[in-house]
Amino acid sequence: MMINYRTLAAAGALVAIGFPAFAETEIKLGYALAPDSHYGVAALKFEEVLLAETGDQFKVTHFPSSGLGGEREVIEGLQIGTVEATIVSSGTLANFVPETGVFDIPFLFSGLPHARAVLDGPIGQDILAKFDGVGLHGLAWGEQGFRHITNNRNAIHTPADVEGLKIRTMENPVHLAAFDAMGAAPTPMAWPEVISSLQQGVIDGQENPLSVIVSVKLNEVQKYLTVSGHVYSPAMLLVSKPFWDGLDDTQKAAMEKAATEAVVTMRGYVDNVETSGVETLKERGMEVNILSAEEKAAFQGSIKSAYEGYYETYGQELVDSIVNFE
Ligand code: PAF
Repeated sequence: MMINYRTLAAAGALVAIGFPAFAETEIKLGYALAPDSHYGVAALKFEEVLLAETGDQFKVTHFPSSGLGGEREVIEGLQIGTVEATIVSSGTLANFVPETGVFDIPFLFSGLPHARAVLDGPIGQDILAKFDGVGLHGLAWGEQGFRHITNNRNAIHTPADVEGLKIRTMENPVHLAAFDAMGAAPTPMAWPEVISSLQQGVIDGQENPLSVIVSVKLNEVQKYLTVSGHVYSPAMLLVSKPFWDGLDDTQKAAMEKAATEAVVTMRGYVDNVETSGVETLKERGMEVNILSAEEKAAFQGSIKSAYEGYYETYGQELVDSIVNFE
């Protein structure tokens, strides 16, 4: 075997002055929220575990706070290989893998343990595997918590209180159908436009979990918080399929381990904020009401017509099997 001593000597000199001998592969990791959000802490954990597992093979560059654009744009970037990884809500995922929309059905899950069990179980994992067919690779389901309504018009106790309310929804047909059925005036909008639209009064309100409401400080632009828990909000750790296909088995295993630990961190953050978030937002001056079981049932009743559509799209059998999953 011929050894090129000149090249070896040059590599040794680079290592000696602090350069790695081999180039690291850059992973651009984009997400919509700040470094101190549930996405931010999960992204840091992902980086920490990946680097611990693989040494200097990768370099993770974070793009928090929609630094690479809205969630749909970032996912499209993954498909064409200009972005390697993201943490996203289920907002636009159904546009890529339609089956994902089943988890966006309101009043589907009884609580966080139920949702986590379904996503980590065969139904969730089957849907996760479908991302390989559309230029993406789903590493793991994460979560944001249950979504609640904030607005500047009035406190919300009954479906009549949302009548005509200009509420921003994610670009998600399942959510849109529910708010339509309630009698609100839903406006689908990409997240980067939401704060300025609230400030300018283009929309009255929005809906998001406590993890988002607290970390984004939505109290600065919203007066009322109604703890409605109308829908669970899954998230996903996604990588680009062209990027994934270029990895060897050891690197893939390291990515999977990093994603699993990132999800544990994300869920831990959500658990904390679900306990403390309402008090935090009251202290910051929001007027808060928590829907009683009867009030919640009235909202559930108000979206019966939307449910007929969900059964048609996803099949009642699948919806029921999620509701009854143990
Ligand atoms: O409302 C949304 O669009 C999402 O929940 C957000 C805030 C971008 C986090 O993924």
